[in-house]
Amino acid sequence: MDAGLAKKRKVDDNDDDCYLKENHDHDIPQLSLMFSLNQEVGTLARALKLFEDNNVNLLHIESRPSKSSKNEYEFLVTCEDTGKNLAPFIEKLKAKTSTVHTLARQPSKDATKSFPWFPRRIRDLDRFANQILSYGHELDSNHPGFTDPVYRARRKEFADIAFKYKHGEPIPRVTYTEDEIKTWTTIFNKLTELYPTHACSQYNHIFPLLVQNCGFKAGNIPQLQDVSNFLKDCTGFTLRPVAGLLSSRDFLAGLAFRVFHSTQYIRHGSAPMYTPEPDVCHELLGHVPLFADPVFAQFSQEIGLASLGSPDEYVEKLATCYWFTVEFGLCRQNNQLKAYGAGLLSSFGELQYCLSDKPKVLPFEPSKTAEQKYPITEFQPVYFESDSFEDAIEKMKTFAASIPRPFSVHYNPYTQTVEVLDKKDKLKDLATNIKGELITLIDAINKVQ
Ligand SMILES: [Fe+2]
Repeated sequence: MDAGLAKKRKVDDNDDDCYLKENHDHDIPQLSLMFSLNQEVGTLARALKLFEDNNVNLLHIESRPSKSSKNEYEFLVTCEDTGKNLAPFIEKLKAKTSTVHTLARQPSKDATKSFPWFPRRIRDLDRFANQILSYGHELDSNHPGFTDPVYRARRKEFADIAFKYKHGEPIPRVTYTEDEIKTWTTIFNKLTELYPTHACSQYNHIFPLLVQNCGFKAGNIPQLQDVSNFLKDCTGFTLRPVAGLLSSRDFLAGLAFRVFHSTQYIRHGSAPMYTPEPDVCHELLGHVPLFADPVFAQFSQEIGLASLGSPDEYVEKLATCYWFTVEFGLCRQNNQLKAYGAGLLSSFGELQYCLSDKPKVLPFEPSKTAEQKYPITEFQPVYFESDSFEDAIEKMKTFAASIPRPFSVHYNPYTQTVEVLDKKDKLKDLATNIKGELITLIDAINKVQ
């Protein structure tokens, strides 16, 4: 919040009740509101708490005594207009204040910058982490745990942990029940039989490290924080708990920061080899090992970076590419097909099926893969294979360049921010950094020879 960003002045001589925020340079769309509050202690704090609770980023605030009521103050606030529906928030604000006026919605300064909001800092992920499409314990009627009140209560416990989580906090450790550990053990024992022959070489290289460092074993469900620490050391990826299903746009945005939104609950014990949704077995056995591989981590981040500020239809295309690679990807190693997708590596049945002669296997080509339709709760009829993760990265970068977006983005790992490369200065800074890295590289090459 920068109180110096805007100044109060009269709109015209006939209307001295209005404020007009001076139109300073801004890169983000903004919404200005005016509301009145009585002078009781704590009313402003309660109103401002609403902004925080609803993840509305406040950019500016100023106040003056009300001209219509002696006991009230008027407040002008400007907040970031993320493009999300702010109507429910404004209704809540109305309930706490005597008047609320929406003064102006201002698109970003440059019309070419009218693009969907996206997080710039890693802590911005807090702002949409709870904008979930369904809360964790809201199960479909065909879910194995639908009629089990104990399971549903347990799911709510996990959802509540994630709902309260903020960036930078340790992920709360969970004491899993005996039944939950039994379910994990059944799955762990079955899947680990297949990995040596069915998983890609990167997976089989990293898996023993997770056994050594993170407690991957029968009889123990690893803790997300331990796994997150391990990933951070390997590739900078981290986990954060998620309370329910995120939109494709929000989920992919996490990957841009090398953050993977992970569930923490386990599937219902009555059907250990089936889950209609991701659970901790899918995340830990399916996703985690590959996020520890530097090239795969970069590939995942490329999809995330490509999604930032992209039009909805392209986000869906990227989500489809994600589906056929990170979730259900195959690769060819030593002339044999191997699985690297998490949906395969966490499914005993599909891991065998995907390498059989039953499904169709096509070469991964993002522009074509992005158009492929797919079922969600059945084995996939079509898979896509890549020669290597490096090759998949090149193809994703080419595809990302074709997305109609008026800027390029670059991830700065030092500040954990996404930089929009839309000004000469920023391009120069990036070129200087790359130059510095090249000098180091040339120096190292000379010394290694
Ligand atoms: Fe997944």
